[in-house]
Amino acid sequence: MILVTGGAGFIGANFVLDWLAQSDEPVITLDKLTYAGNPENLQSLQGDARHTLVQGDIGDRDLVAQLLATHQPRAVINFAAESHVDRSIHGPGDFIQTNIVGTFNLLEAVRGYWSGLAATEKAAFRFLHVSTDEVYGSLKKDDPAFTESSHIEPNSPYSASKAASDHLVRAWHHTYGLPVLTTNCSNNYGPYHFPEKLIPLLIVNSLAGKPLPVYGDGQQIRDWLYVKDHCSAIRRVLEAGRLGEIYNVGGWNEKANLDIVHTVCALLDELRPRADGQPYKNQITYVTDRPGHDRRYAIDARKLESELGWKPAETFETGIRKTVLWYLDNPAWVAHVQSGSYRDWVSKQYGSVAHDKVAA
Ligand code: NAD
Ligand code: TYD
Repeated sequence: MILVTGGAGFIGANFVLDWLAQSDEPVITLDKLTYAGNPENLQSLQGDARHTLVQGDIGDRDLVAQLLATHQPRAVINFAAESHVDRSIHGPGDFIQTNIVGTFNLLEAVRGYWSGLAATEKAAFRFLHVSTDEVYGSLKKDDPAFTESSHIEPNSPYSASKAASDHLVRAWHHTYGLPVLTTNCSNNYGPYHFPEKLIPLLIVNSLAGKPLPVYGDGQQIRDWLYVKDHCSAIRRVLEAGRLGEIYNVGGWNEKANLDIVHTVCALLDELRPRADGQPYKNQITYVTDRPGHDRRYAIDARKLESELGWKPAETFETGIRKTVLWYLDNPAWVAHVQSGSYRDWVSKQYGSVAHDKVAA
């Protein structure tokens, strides 16, 4: 069995669902269920004896130690994190607490468990840490894409806290021999993506007739990967990655934000035209830029491809169409995530016009 932390969030839930669609190896999901952790993401597993959801904090060393001792997993996959850059700017404390202190406590609990395993289980055990390309900082227009040996130059409290967690994971391998693997992936999109992030926000705001907020000039570049391709990369690294190594994950899909906005608008014009016949792009609104906004990310994933034979299955065109269709097909999921703390967050981020900026 495997232990998945943060498995009720966007990528973690996709990972758990894909895992159990392909294997009967049981999963324990440990998730604090913050605003971003949504048990509905795992609703299709209700009553499935292969899956258990435990609400708890990766920073709770006793709880993690107890879960490890009881379930004896062969691997821990760590998705748990505070993940939104804008939130990290407004309040970095939770990012330091979960991404750094939480990872430290998780590593210590895992080290205690792993040290006590019998030789065969000890050799087979893996701790896979899921990280981000944002730890490498920002690229200029013509810079080559980030490789695994690019400088670590994080610019936001989010990316700095993830970089710190990556360093802890590395050190636990070098100092204690913990069998770790780290993946640094580019921006994901797909089903169950919380609508505070660009792509789901665009879809839900479009449908609700709300403005589509574009930060600054909209020419910032992100490198987009369909979430299920990220999940397949993690499975492959878990299966065959070399211990202590970092693997960059990406699909060579650099796009300017404004191009993303136009693509989503065009798909919605085709799949769910506005009642008044006007194009969704009429809802685009330019808003104040994010402080310290990274201009460009791009991932060089050749190591993962050449060493482990991984390739993404989706192009951006196929992935974004699937994503828009998923949101159109799941209005109840959208309505539920838009209640509660999401609204509080929205008014903090978007100020007095909060409820004009997102579907309320
Ligand atoms: P998310 O915010 O959707 O989900 C995070 C999950 O972690 C939530 O379910 C939340 O409840 C849980 N969590 C938060 N604090 C916790 C704690 N202290 N203990 C236990 N659980 C806790 O994030 P995501 O987009 O699914 O990202 C998952 C991981 O992948 C993160 O580590 C993130 O840094 C990394 N990542 C994300 C992207 C992306 O584009 N979203 C890209 C590369 C890497
Ligand atoms: P986001 O989805 O927050 O991911 P990240 O900051 O981790 O890359 O943002 C993706 C890009 O879209 C980023 O350049 C910021 C921009 N953006 C907007 O222009 N408007 C928005 O309302 C949001 C949430 C993001």
